[in-house]
Amino acid sequence: MRHPLVAGNWKMNGDSESIATLISGLLEIQCEADIAVFPPHIYIPLVIAGVGGSSVAVGGQSASEHKAGAYTGETSCQMLRDVGCQYVIVGHSERRSIYGESSQQVAEKFVVAQLSGMTPILCVGETLEQRDKGETLNVIAEQLGLVIELAGLDAVCKAVVAYEPVWAIGTGKTATAEQAQSVHQDIRRQLGESGAKTRILYGGSVKAANAAELFLQPDIDGALVGGASLDVSEFSEICKLA
Ligand code: 13P
Repeated sequence: MRHPLVAGNWKMNGDSESIATLISGLLEIQCEADIAVFPPHIYIPLVIAGVGGSSVAVGGQSASEHKAGAYTGETSCQMLRDVGCQYVIVGHSERRSIYGESSQQVAEKFVVAQLSGMTPILCVGETLEQRDKGETLNVIAEQLGLVIELAGLDAVCKAVVAYEPVWAIGTGKTATAEQAQSVHQDIRRQLGESGAKTRILYGGSVKAANAAELFLQPDIDGALVGGASLDVSEFSEICKLA
């Protein structure tokens, strides 16, 4: 019922040459899962042109909560949509922790993204300290709750949710399949009946070696992959496992 999605978040990596190599590799992937990649904004048109005609979708890693105006350095959702993006990531933990994005701002970004016609990928996740204190489910319920309050449950159910435990991002420490499943199950419970159709991705040190076990879990519908998405053969393996 839920079609798997494997999303590659390239973060601030790559140049014209390495991205051309990634594009040719992406075009060769044959798999059942939907694929989306998130290049740095400046390379988005290049990637869209490169994957044009294939089933690979392209999205933005972040966008402004404002529609237009005097916001130096920002990119609007409308601009991302205008150049052909289908998705936009909102609330990535690096945006929350490094750039101080508040949960309120994340919720506003979600609304603007969804109104622009793109599918938001809403990231939620706890820090190690919060996990150790047993606060994981509360933290995630609060992050999700604010977006539901502002955007409405229906809009969130139509989007994609990504559970990315902060302690598993770029650290090589993946949540065990059981740890991830229990959070995914709780997210789906919070989404209610319509949440049965919502794709919930897992992110945090996903590699070909650990993807199969994660994808076996009933509430894990794919992955949001960081580092491993820069290696196209690794990424291709993950896509085939989903
Ligand atoms: P890594 O796969 O490098 O841990 O990054 C995960 C992530 O942040 C994807 O958005």
